[in-house]
Amino acid sequence: MKGLILSGGKGTRLYPLTYTSAKQLIPIANKPVLFRVIEAIRDAGITDIGIVVGDTAPEIERAVGQGGQWGVNITYIPQEAPLGLAHAVKISEDFLGQERFVMFLGDNVIEGGISTLIGQFANSDYNSQIVLTRVDRPQEYGVAVLDDKGSIVKLIEKPKEPPSDLALVGIYMFDHHIFAAVNAISPSWRGEYEITDAIQWLVDAGHNVHAYVHRGWWIDTGAPGDMLEANSLVLEELTPTLEGYVDRDSEVDSRVTLEPGAEIINSVVRGPAIIGKETRLVNAYVGPFTSIYHHCLIENAEISRSIVLEHSQIRNINRRIEDSLIGRNVVVHRSPIRPRAYKFTLGDNSHLGLLGNDGE
Ligand code: G1P
Repeated sequence: MKGLILSGGKGTRLYPLTYTSAKQLIPIANKPVLFRVIEAIRDAGITDIGIVVGDTAPEIERAVGQGGQWGVNITYIPQEAPLGLAHAVKISEDFLGQERFVMFLGDNVIEGGISTLIGQFANSDYNSQIVLTRVDRPQEYGVAVLDDKGSIVKLIEKPKEPPSDLALVGIYMFDHHIFAAVNAISPSWRGEYEITDAIQWLVDAGHNVHAYVHRGWWIDTGAPGDMLEANSLVLEELTPTLEGYVDRDSEVDSRVTLEPGAEIINSVVRGPAIIGKETRLVNAYVGPFTSIYHHCLIENAEISRSIVLEHSQIRNINRRIEDSLIGRNVVVHRSPIRPRAYKFTLGDNSHLGLLGNDGE
């Protein structure tokens, strides 16, 4: 089998972070989501992986390279415009050939990997296998209706009035019949070739499409809230390792991972949390569900349930920072310079949540 990862898209809901970086490269528990996807496919025994890339291609290629660090071979497939998931399959036909393949969206995170799913598909006579899970807002996804026996009745992309709460997770398995399907469909109202329509075409043409209902968690990390949620869930799965330095005045609990060169000085870290390479905490508190990436400094400050990207500093802040997604090279500090006022340099589409004078 081969793997196909979709890693185009602009990531508009994650502005301003995605002005300067592809959304698939934002780290969850200090590892880019895209790396987690590559590992999930590799762990399922697949070593030939195509990555469909768009405007952010140079950055993705720089981060992933030829795949040697994971023991896989990466082929890059440029998509000239974000014309939909089915379009991505269409332009990947040369790479995929006649082999069965798994397609995985490069910004999706799923509990427990995909080895079982791949094994099940590889040993079956299914032409396709889709993964479904129950969600609260089905109108934001592709939605499936199943009959009593679990067979697919129909699939609809982002229905205004969802007929079920079973959403299509961004993991799909196909054989070569999918090429006839993606060539037969027309663009949807949003101008994209929808994979949902292509799968409906397979069903209508009498091909064997199997629906697997996933019971664990799954997150499509499109928006900051999803990132924080995925970060919390992945941190809970992590097996902690302590490769950094903790001084005698600090308290670091058993669910904390310290990466090499991390330094914890007179600080408290409550897990699950991860502190990146060469990051320093000084007189700080880092609370549960927090990932601080490499080369950061947290000094005289408190932070919990947040993600801080590389080379950022948070210093001398007397309120705890919570539920925050902080980008690269950011400095948050108390300024001694008059006037005594908030002074911001915020990127376009930034979000800043401040307390009122009474702390409310
Ligand atoms: C895409 C698919 C949709 C699926 C979702 C999963 O949506 O079109 O069917 O449920 O991925 O993440 P999009 O991210 O393009 O809105």
